[in-house]
Amino acid sequence: MGRAFVYVILGGGVAAGYAALEFTKRGVSHGELCIISEEPVAPYERPALSKGFLLPEAPSRLPSFHTCVGANEERLTPKWYKEHGIELVLGTRVKSADVRRKTLLTATGETISYKILIIATGARALKLEEFGVTGSDAENVCYLRDLDDANRLVNVIQSCSGGNAVVIGGGYVGMECAGSLVINKINVTMVFPEAHCMARLFTPKIATYYEDYYTSKGVKFVKGTVLTSFEFDSNGKVTAVNLRDGSQLPADLVVVGIGIRPNTGLFEGQLTLDKGGIKVNGLLQSSNNSVYAIGDVASFPVKILGETRRLEHVDSARKSARHAVAAIMDSVKTGDFDYLPFFYSRVFTLSWQFYGDNAGEVVYYGDFSSSTFGAYWVNKGYLVGSFLEGGTKEEYEAIANATRLKPAIEDLAELERQGLGFALAA
Ligand code: FDA
Ligand code: NAD
Repeated sequence: MGRAFVYVILGGGVAAGYAALEFTKRGVSHGELCIISEEPVAPYERPALSKGFLLPEAPSRLPSFHTCVGANEERLTPKWYKEHGIELVLGTRVKSADVRRKTLLTATGETISYKILIIATGARALKLEEFGVTGSDAENVCYLRDLDDANRLVNVIQSCSGGNAVVIGGGYVGMECAGSLVINKINVTMVFPEAHCMARLFTPKIATYYEDYYTSKGVKFVKGTVLTSFEFDSNGKVTAVNLRDGSQLPADLVVVGIGIRPNTGLFEGQLTLDKGGIKVNGLLQSSNNSVYAIGDVASFPVKILGETRRLEHVDSARKSARHAVAAIMDSVKTGDFDYLPFFYSRVFTLSWQFYGDNAGEVVYYGDFSSSTFGAYWVNKGYLVGSFLEGGTKEEYEAIANATRLKPAIEDLAELERQGLGFALAA
């Protein structure tokens, strides 16, 4: 058995939702577009899962955060897809793909064929087992990638108020979950191998600001070490974690955020891969003309940086989705994707934004003992990256604009003196 569509989006996450909206804006006919997703719900704003979803009071729940509310666009509920004649094939995993025949085979045995395929399969959370530690199946060990994970985490949080949580990993999931756990009145210890949190982006000076803030909220940090094993009770529940430095931490809850792997498996050997993702050109088109890739799974040329990158952030998922659809519907008028990398996070009352690239020398500005400060990155004489904590909407726009202009910087001391004023005047 089988069905045929003009356009198929494989994956039903953030990028899929934004692509669907763009298709309707550009005039897709009823019955032409299909979205296939392993998840049982229509595309939603994944960032909510580590933020509003985990709050003890008035938590966010679907349908409130279906895409595309994150960009203050229309909220695409299942009814919206129906009204627009878009077929949502939910709770269905695609188990193989044949790009030569232009078909996908689902785990339910259906063959779905396409003229144009958009791969939006995102990524999966890395498991502790991949680092030689067993115990991920224990009921109080939680990962956080999808709604199922988030529901499970909420249940464990509710069963251990006042208890101890160990957060493994000092990246985005670790930092945002640690904040949410504190708000849920759980004692948190964070464990990670690096010398400071958010090592992929933060400098030690920036990281210290956040670590001090978290410490003031009661979070403990155990740095420079990793988890080696768990202690279990007779029901298989984790009671403690053992660390490589020989110490042991009691645990009623363990949250693991140790990075991701893009879901490229269906296309290995069929499409060109790069930087762990599916390599695409400036139109988000893969090495096969009929196949596009967007979001976390796509490695695309970032014009302003002059190199191919794979980005794991929601803004890139949203914008690459829109650009791919624009290119599919009007390849003549659509130029190459010209994207300025944008990352952000919000936790407690903190809120930061980062634009560009964190390469080269760092120039700090503002007062690190207050709630507004930032940094610029200057590489080979040009401003390439900007970070700001506690900014206003106008200030964030200013650092974004300044970074996009990539101005030449001759005097780092002068940049430091001007601080945020440099971006505001740019
Ligand atoms: P996404 O992961 O959203 O969707 C992929 C979809 O494909 C899923 O529905 C999956 O089930 C489906 N799929 C995969 N393989 C399949 C198969 N074989 N068959 C069928 N379906 C399949 N970013 C940011 O900038 N700011 C933030 O605050 C946050 N916060 C945040 C919190 C949490 C908890 C997470 C996990 C992530 C974030 N992010 C973020 C990152 C952001 O959510 C991420 O970059 C986007 O969700 C990427 O969108 P995609 O659509 O590419 O993948
Ligand atoms: P990450 O890459 O941000 O951080 C991974 C962390 O794992 C590292 O900082 C390191 O401390 C730790 N680590 C690595 N190996 C380890 C080991 N063996 N033992 C212990 N710790 C180890 O990944 P994440 O925090 O898992 O986030 C997952 C994905 O979700 C990422 O793509 C991220 O961009 C996305 N996300 C983004 C946001 C945001 O942008 N605000 C928020 C949440 C999640």
